[in-house]
Amino acid sequence: MKSVRRSETLAALGGKRVIPGGTIKPWPPIGNLDRKMVLASLEGGQHAYGPNCTALEKEFSAWSGIKHALFCNSGTAALHMALVACECGAGDEAIVPAYTWPSSATCCLHHNIIPVFVDIEWTTMNIDTDKIEAAITPRTKAIIVVHLHGLMVNMKKIMAIAGKHGLKVIEDCCQAHGARFQGKTAGTFGDCAAFSTNQNKVMCSGEGGFFCSNDDKMFARGKTLWYFGENRPPDASEGYHAYGMGWMYRSSDLVAAFARAQLTRLNDNLARIQTNAARLSECLADVPHLILPATPKGHHHNFYNYTIRFDMEALKHASDARIFRDKIVAALKAEGVDTGIWQGWPVPEMTAIKAKNAYGRGCPWSCRHAARVDYSLDQYPVARRHCDWHTGMTTPLRPPNGTRVAELLAGAFRKVMSNLDQVENVKP
Ligand SMILES: Cc1ncc(COP(=O)(O)O)c(C=O)c1O
Repeated sequence: MKSVRRSETLAALGGKRVIPGGTIKPWPPIGNLDRKMVLASLEGGQHAYGPNCTALEKEFSAWSGIKHALFCNSGTAALHMALVACECGAGDEAIVPAYTWPSSATCCLHHNIIPVFVDIEWTTMNIDTDKIEAAITPRTKAIIVVHLHGLMVNMKKIMAIAGKHGLKVIEDCCQAHGARFQGKTAGTFGDCAAFSTNQNKVMCSGEGGFFCSNDDKMFARGKTLWYFGENRPPDASEGYHAYGMGWMYRSSDLVAAFARAQLTRLNDNLARIQTNAARLSECLADVPHLILPATPKGHHHNFYNYTIRFDMEALKHASDARIFRDKIVAALKAEGVDTGIWQGWPVPEMTAIKAKNAYGRGCPWSCRHAARVDYSLDQYPVARRHCDWHTGMTTPLRPPNGTRVAELLAGAFRKVMSNLDQVENVKP
């Protein structure tokens, strides 16, 4: 790899960029199979829940190793169905990591369930398993574990805590297709799992998701939400009758056709992401002040998001970490690195959650079935530090991009981190 001279001018300040425009190719690669299957669906005449949806569910179930998979229109919908499958309801509490995509918590609010946040651990960026028990109350019904960025939570510890306290476990696998812990894949440990297939996921269908469970009864219960609450008894004809509360969480045949085509390449894509991430780690190993993503023993990371933290203490920027991080990220972007802040706030710091007001009038926190919960931010110091110190990458490490792109990315990081005096002058 070409080394970068220390005094080279940063692209943000008028220098030449390391990664020429157009080098990083967009995700996902579209091939002939995608075109063929989507076109066949288009001409097939069944555009709502059609034959591609049912075929996809069987194929995803086989791929994931989970008995039941229901194709729906988002990972958020799948999480909501999982909570209902676990019989969580008004005034109940669910444990959620303080740092995740907001849906891991808002899925609770759609069902009047109160999210109780637990801080993350620094190394894995996942929920701190040692802090979960202190957050459990008599109202806790479930733990929502999020396998963030494709690194699984230590599910041995989670299942032990859940067993001890009689709690259900929901795995948010939206980012974790193919990730493994002690040889078992994401989604196969808990009671229910949710996967996303949105644009940015390692399996992309534009939008979409799967609600999954090995348990027949739980699966049936979660599914009641999927189609207007029209949960017909098997012997009843379609009656357009709401037997219970439901949403419209189905997806369409066109989307399923796209998803089926992408699923045929999922294992190959995951393998290529591994190779690219490994090359990037190798090239960045000696770049100072970077904290590279860890893969603890027993884990197989899928590198959905390759997240780097800048060591702001060593850089003497601990007190203005967010401002300095934003300058570094702007400098990286100017060099052609497709990078960004995945989530800038812990979930309890987000407006609706902080205000404890979901759909108005303080519900569900003010509900007489609910107990008071405390979201004061000093409980989540690790999540807050992570928010200020990190940047992440997804597309550049995905096919069709290969190891050459990984090397260029490393070159850009090396250049920026070797010219921090110039970074001070970059406008975020
Ligand atoms: C960890 C996590 N959970 C849930 C979701 C929600 O998935 P969707 O966008 O398909 O609703 C996402 C999406 O980005 C996610 O990253």
